[in-house]
Order: sequence, then C-alpha cells, then structure tokens
Amino acid sequence: MKKAFRLAATLAPLLLASCQSDPPPAATAPAPGSGTITSAPIQVDEKSFKCVRDMTPVRGFFVDNIAGNLDGTLAVAKSTTGGVYPPGSVVQLFPNEVMVKRENGFNPITKDWEFFELDVDENGSTIRKRGFQDVNNRFGGNCFACHVQAKPEWDMICEDSHGCEALPISRHTINSLQNTDPRCEDIDIPFSQRVSAWFIKAFTSF
Ligand code: HEC
Repeated sequence: MKKAFRLAATLAPLLLASCQSDPPPAATAPAPGSGTITSAPIQVDEKSFKCVRDMTPVRGFFVDNIAGNLDGTLAVAKSTTGGVYPPGSVVQLFPNEVMVKRENGFNPITKDWEFFELDVDENGSTIRKRGFQDVNNRFGGNCFACHVQAKPEWDMICEDSHGCEALPISRHTINSLQNTDPRCEDIDIPFSQRVSAWFIKAFTSF
C-alpha cells in the first residue's frame, strides 16, 4: 500500500498538468459575454449534465446537445473533415470535465466553448469551476491552453490526432473512469477496469 501511495503521489502532479503554463494574456481576451451574440440563449446549470454513458458515444468520447440539436452536434462530431459545433453541444471524455458550446459570438477566443470542472456523485453533478480561458482541471492543467492546440478545423476538440499534446493517461484508464461514473447505473465491467478506476480515484483527486 505504501508503495502504491508513493507511486500515486509521484504520478498525480504529472497527470494532465503539462499544459498548465501560459494561458494567453488576459488583457487580449474579451470578458465572457462581451461578443456579439447571434444565436438563442443557452442556459447551463448543474442539471444540464448527466451520466456520460447516457450521452451519445462518438469514438472515445460522448456528446449531447442541451438546445435540442443533437443531429447538428453529431454531424460535426462524426465528420472526417471537422466543422464548427452548434450552440448547445456538450462534449465529455471524463465524467467530471465538460465543454459546452455557448451562443454564437459569446467568446470568440474560446470559439464559444465554456469549460466546466464538475464534482460528480450518485446524486448528480455540482459545478466546481466554469469559465473560458481561466478554468484549470483538478491537476492544475488549463483546459483552454491544451484544447487551443487542436488544428482549427477541429473546433478545439483534441481526440488523439488533432494536434494537441497527448494526455498522460491510458485509454484503459479513460474507459475505466467512463464506466464507473457514479451518476450512472452500475454495469458489469472487466475487473481490471474496476481496479484502475479505484486506484486513480483513491490516489489522485479525480
Ligand atoms: C494536458 C492537456 C489538457 C488539459 C489540461 C485538459 N484537456 Fe481535455 N483533452 C486533452 C486531450 C489531449 C484530449 C483527447 C484525449 C484522447 O482522446 O486521447 C482531451 C479530451 C477532452 C474532451 C473530449 C473531446 C476532445 O477534445 O477530444 C473534453 C470534453 C475535454 N477534454 C474537456 C476538458 C476540460 C473541460 C478541461 C479542463 C477542466 C480539460 N479538458 C483539460 C487535453 C487536455
């Protein structure tokens, strides 16, 4: 156990922290909401979020649309040439990190994406942090600083081939976290995924 703890303590700061430096200078960024908005209002609160597996899977991540335009979101997510996600799009890889596409023109710097860091448990979701260029995940990594590395045609969606620095976390661990989202009904998963999810939740702040 001691050895496992030491390993986790060594790994935790490394996880996802690599892009934390140098978010773009705040002076050049408009305040959220200062753009010219050209689409209907998008209201986002903690009820906007749900069990990731109840969203629509696309390759390794999940999508939804809180403005009722799931078809529009899926068309871009499944496109092989990229595109611009429509307002209301919700995208998740981990249960507790979310990107939501706000109104057209809401924040030109983040291409209208709002970043969310959630706390999730069997009762639902609580918003821990939300915002634009200034949101860090629980490992100190700045969401925007990493996601802005995606080539322009991918609208800040990284996946594993869109130009972002890779996450220091395996696909097996990502699947384990998706399959143990506490907001979802329990399902049968491989024992190795249970161990992996237990380990990362017990020894890091995930
Ligand atoms: C260290 C860089 C880094 C940080 C920090 C980071 N991400 Fe990501 N994120 C990635 C990469 C790379 C992927 C794609 C991983 C894969 O599919 O292998 C990803 C995937 C995602 C996805 C799925 C869609 C996609 O882009 O592939 C969402 C949604 C997401 N991250 C949201 C966030 C949010 C919200 C934060 C902050 C709370 C955040 N991320 C912080 C690099 C980062």
